[in-house]
Amino acid sequence: MATERECLCAKNTPKPLPTVEPADQKVKEALKNLMLDDDVLKRIMTKFRQDVEAGLKKATQPTSAVKCYVTYVQDLPTGSEKGRYLALDLGGTNFRVLLIELCETHFEMKSRIFAIPKAEMVGPGDKMFDHIAECLATFLKQEHLDTEPISLGFTFSFPCQQVGLTKGILIRWTKGFQCSGVEGNDVVQLLREAIARRGDIKLNVTAILNDTTGTLMSCAWRNRNCKIGLIIGTGTNACYVEKQQNAEFFDEPDKGSGNVIINTEWGAFGDDGGIDFCVTDYDREIDKNSINPGKQLFEKMISGMYMGELARLIILKFTKDGLLFGGKSSPLLEEREKFETKFVSDIEGDLQGVYTKQKPILQKLGLGHATDADMMNIRFICEVVSRRAAGLVSATLAALLNKMGEPHVTIGVDGSVYRFHPYFHGLMMHKISELVDPGRKFDLMLSEDGSGRGAALVAAVAAAKDEAVVTN
Ligand code: BGC
Repeated sequence: MATERECLCAKNTPKPLPTVEPADQKVKEALKNLMLDDDVLKRIMTKFRQDVEAGLKKATQPTSAVKCYVTYVQDLPTGSEKGRYLALDLGGTNFRVLLIELCETHFEMKSRIFAIPKAEMVGPGDKMFDHIAECLATFLKQEHLDTEPISLGFTFSFPCQQVGLTKGILIRWTKGFQCSGVEGNDVVQLLREAIARRGDIKLNVTAILNDTTGTLMSCAWRNRNCKIGLIIGTGTNACYVEKQQNAEFFDEPDKGSGNVIINTEWGAFGDDGGIDFCVTDYDREIDKNSINPGKQLFEKMISGMYMGELARLIILKFTKDGLLFGGKSSPLLEEREKFETKFVSDIEGDLQGVYTKQKPILQKLGLGHATDADMMNIRFICEVVSRRAAGLVSATLAALLNKMGEPHVTIGVDGSVYRFHPYFHGLMMHKISELVDPGRKFDLMLSEDGSGRGAALVAAVAAAKDEAVVTN
């Protein structure tokens, strides 16, 4: 298995970015409001920085779109953590249970993926937690670990107001989840209750964390410069290392490094209208049709849950306006969510001027009548959509880097868009370099299984602390 360092090197020599043009200048003209220049990105940086500062302060957090939740994870791993831990990773349509053995120089990991049926994502919360507890029991029994208590780190990738390391109140669901009876409640408690209802497994939930924190912890285990954790997958978000004195909600006495990890929850950036200057009618349409209208606007402009749909809306509009396919649409193109985010990556993955991957996608969508000019235009639309996403993420990252003021920061990254889009890494490297204050160094480090191992590491750091308290 490749280490993060190897991945970092491989990823840091990005493919040269293609310079694509549409077949038709009218297409370019019609996409103008999605092509953000550096002046717009700099406005975004300024607004984001203001929102982060507001989110950190008690007086202004309630009205700030960016909440900057305190995570209570203060200590980055030292790299010497040892022992066997369980991790539960819930944040998308699947969840994973992982068993991780941390040794001094390496780690071993076994994991199993369980699906969450769609009905459970929007049904009663206790049903979903019962389902999770059942899968945990299945896994533990399979591993013959159901008799001894084991520590569990719970990665729960939704906005939570934390009240200590083992208490997280769900503020709101995102990414297509809408289970009743969970918002406003402590999810650790809900998980513990579901485990207790079964009575057949012994688990000690020692930490709850966001996937961004898991990613940061996982990368920091190998790389001490890692101070930002970033996800660009189904959703998007970032956390970063802040000074405890700047985080007014951190109410524990100053300890350890004097730092604390802040979960920005930047997906909600713009929910107060603060970035309306770059929101398009397509974004509004996506928002209107979503399960959570008016919420997570920034996320809807970037992440994998929406990127394909955004491309579809543009393609459909351009078809109706006679700019594509000779004005001839197809029933599937008219259907919501039929243009997958994966298609954007695949289409851009074709060599320029070749449509090996694009052709079967269009066939599948009933658009076999596409001409070469159409395909060139479709590729251009995909490029514009993914470049805008990369530009937006780069702007908020550059704002964080400038705020942190460190000479060199490594950004630990995970998520399907970053992993699978052929140019996302290169686009970000390029754009952040243009936007960040001169003299600040940064790099992007792909996390090997960020959230899972990160959760085990947080559980390990927490367990080590408990031991220290007991022995002192
Ligand atoms: C959630 C975040 C999460 C992000 C990436 C967002 O929808 O609100 O908590 O970190 O998705 O998974």
